[in-house]
Parts: sequence; structure tokens; C-alpha cells
Amino acid sequence: MGGCELCGGTGFLKKEDGKVELCHCRFNSQDINATLLIPKRFWGVEFENYSCDEGNSSEADALKEAKIFSAEFNPENGAGLTLVGPPGVGKTHLAVGILKEIYRKKGVKGAFFDTKDLIYRLKSLIEERKINRAIKKILNIPLIVLDDLGSERLSDWQREVISYIISFRYNNLKSTIITTNFPLEAGENERSEDRGIRVYLSERLDPGTVSRILHMNRVIYIIGRDRRKEVQKQKKLLG
Ligand SMILES: Nc1ncnc2c1ncn2[C@@H]1O[C@H](COP(=O)(O)OP(=O)(O)OP(=O)(O)O)[C@@H](O)[C@H]1O
Ligand SMILES: [Mg+2]
Repeated sequence: MGGCELCGGTGFLKKEDGKVELCHCRFNSQDINATLLIPKRFWGVEFENYSCDEGNSSEADALKEAKIFSAEFNPENGAGLTLVGPPGVGKTHLAVGILKEIYRKKGVKGAFFDTKDLIYRLKSLIEERKINRAIKKILNIPLIVLDDLGSERLSDWQREVISYIISFRYNNLKSTIITTNFPLEAGENERSEDRGIRVYLSERLDPGTVSRILHMNRVIYIIGRDRRKEVQKQKKLLG
């Protein structure tokens, strides 16, 4: 921070509207990706490199909603987002973009969790009898991403852990961003039904968990092409 020309070393910038913002120099000295527990593949991900295909309003809408959510984020109100869509459409990309934006603009330190990995880690902690401390830490983070929720069938114990995390965060007004391939419940998204999707999160989680997610989070559907296939094509072309 010391000699920053922008903020004079205070770490704060006063904007035209009188509001105060954290200066970028605050983040130069630390690795934002490590701070927010972002997996290596997504280190370079930002709102700026999320592109929208012409004529695909769902991508443009999702980016807009992600930006509005970040700008309006209030760590006291428990509001979150659920990003729903098929593989490779950029749900994790946007979730990471939101975490970074909120950290840079508001100084709120969120954390990224791959849901499957989180559950497995909690299981090993249970075996070591360290579960209570670990869960409490996660429960109280002001903003978490639960990436790929419901990607596979869950055992009773796994459902219980998810249910516990969600209901604690719901009751205590803590924000949670969820990404998932599946709409939450039947009838909730006509478009997914039109496209033959017949699996719902409500089949993998308790009804009470789904109900809480629907209440605390705004649902955003992204329909688009699988961008991973594009990368594969480019690799083939390059030989
Ligand atoms: N609109 C986009 N603009 C630029 N890159 C994108 C876009 N959407 C996705 N990508 C890139 O494509 C790859 C796959 O995206 P991502 O992992 O976010 O998909 P996803 O929707 O989370 O898929 P899954 O449901 O399989 O987890 C990432 O490298 C991501 O950065
Ligand atoms: Mg993903």
C-alpha cells in the first residue's frame, strides 16, 4: 500500500458519490485467488472475460444479474444467487467473478467450495472428531460458493450436512451462491422442461433445503453452448 499514487497509502478511495471504496493496491500484496480459495483453473476468470454470444440473452442477463448482485451485496441480508444450467455455460466462471468483485469492491472475504470436495473433507474431519470447529468456520463466512450442488446422488449423511449448512446460513442471513446443473424443482423452469431435463435438485436434497434455497436466492438460468467443447476444438485445430 505504502506509496500508492491512487490512495496515498490509505487503502481507501473516495468516489464521486461520496462513497468509500477499497483501493486496488490493497490486493496487490496478496493473492486474491488463494484468499478466496479459488481453484487454479479459474484463477484468470473475471467478469471482463465472460463473453456473451450474439442473440443469447440468457448469457447477457446472467452477467448483468451477477454484476447487480455484486454491486448490491450486503453481508447482513443473506441474499444469494443460484446459477442453473447445463455443463460448460459459465456458471462457475460467474460465481468466481462475483467472489472477486465483492472482495475487491467491498472487502468482503468470501470462499469458494466445490460441494463434493467439501463434503468429503468434512467426512474425514468427522472421523478425526474435528468436525464441529470446521463446520462452524464455514457456516459463518459472509459469502460462500457451493459449486456443483447435487452433481451426484447423496447419502443420507451427505444430505444432512448440506441441509445443516443451508439452514444455518438461511437462519443467520449469510449469503450463499449455488451453481448446479439442475433446476430446483419440477415446474419451476419451463425452459428446462422443454429441453427434456427431468432431474431436479429436489430429488437429491431434502424438501426443506430446496425451499430455503428458493427463498433466500434469486435463480438465474443460463442456456448456452458448452464452452469446454470450444477449447477442445481449438486444441484439435492446433494439432
Ligand atoms: N460466457 C463465457 N465467456 C468466456 N468463457 C466462458 C464463458 N462461459 C464459460 N466459459 C469458460 O468455459 C469453461 C467452462 O465454464 P464453467 O466451468 O464456468 O462452466 P459451468 O457452467 O460451471 O459447467 P459445469 O456445470 O460443468 O460445472 C471455463 O474455462 C470458463 O471460463
Ligand atoms: Mg461449474
